[in-house]
Amino acid sequence: MAGVKIGKGSKIGATVDIDQSAPELITIGKNVWVTRGVMMLCHQRDLAQYEVGKPVMDCELVYKPIKIKDGAHIGIGAIIMPGVTIGEGAIIGAGSVVTRNIPPYSVAVGAPAKVIRVFVAKVVGLPTGGVIRKYHNISALRKKSITSIGDLNHVYRKAS
Ligand SMILES: CC(C)(COP(=O)(O)OP(=O)(O)OC[C@H]1O[C@@H](n2cnc3c(N)ncnc32)[C@H](O)[C@@H]1OP(=O)(O)O)[C@@H](O)C(=O)NCCC(=O)NCCS
Repeated sequence: MAGVKIGKGSKIGATVDIDQSAPELITIGKNVWVTRGVMMLCHQRDLAQYEVGKPVMDCELVYKPIKIKDGAHIGIGAIIMPGVTIGEGAIIGAGSVVTRNIPPYSVAVGAPAKVIRVFVAKVVGLPTGGVIRKYHNISALRKKSITSIGDLNHVYRKAS
């Protein structure tokens, strides 16, 4: 994990595989759990340069940062792709491939990872709380790039 910025209280499981070519692009907040076998990739080929007859290896590498915000939990064997921000308190299912930003206090699973739950009580501070499974506006969350609680509150209030 040399070069990775890691906040206080975070735990990194065995066999976590970080991008050795750009560890400085990875930022892990406080109290994050990165469980066993997670991979974090910060680079890929620029396919805008790909042409018929040209080896893909000739395309330049594009580097993008990964940010995992405070309190997030990354399930076993998940793959985090370049440029992804995982919001505060978000939970990523085992074996998921995370290609887009994940909103705070949500659960995202699958390949590509999709949000299946949002812990609205945590986000908007409802007095009685509760978890809304398959929240009706999840499709809106997927389309937007939401990484802060403020953004999520905005979408929630518009939808309710
Ligand atoms: C993501 C997770 C937290 C969801 O748990 P949950 O809220 O109890 O969700 P459920 O088991 O009710 O599953 C909800 C749906 O998501 C699907 N799902 C759950 N986990 C999934 C995963 N990892 N990948 C793909 N789909 C998943 C279920 O099949 C179910 O789909 P359905 O509604 O179509 O039937 C859990 O399944 C998980 O993967 N936890 C990580 C475990 C781990 O890595 N632990 C590390 C130990 S240190």
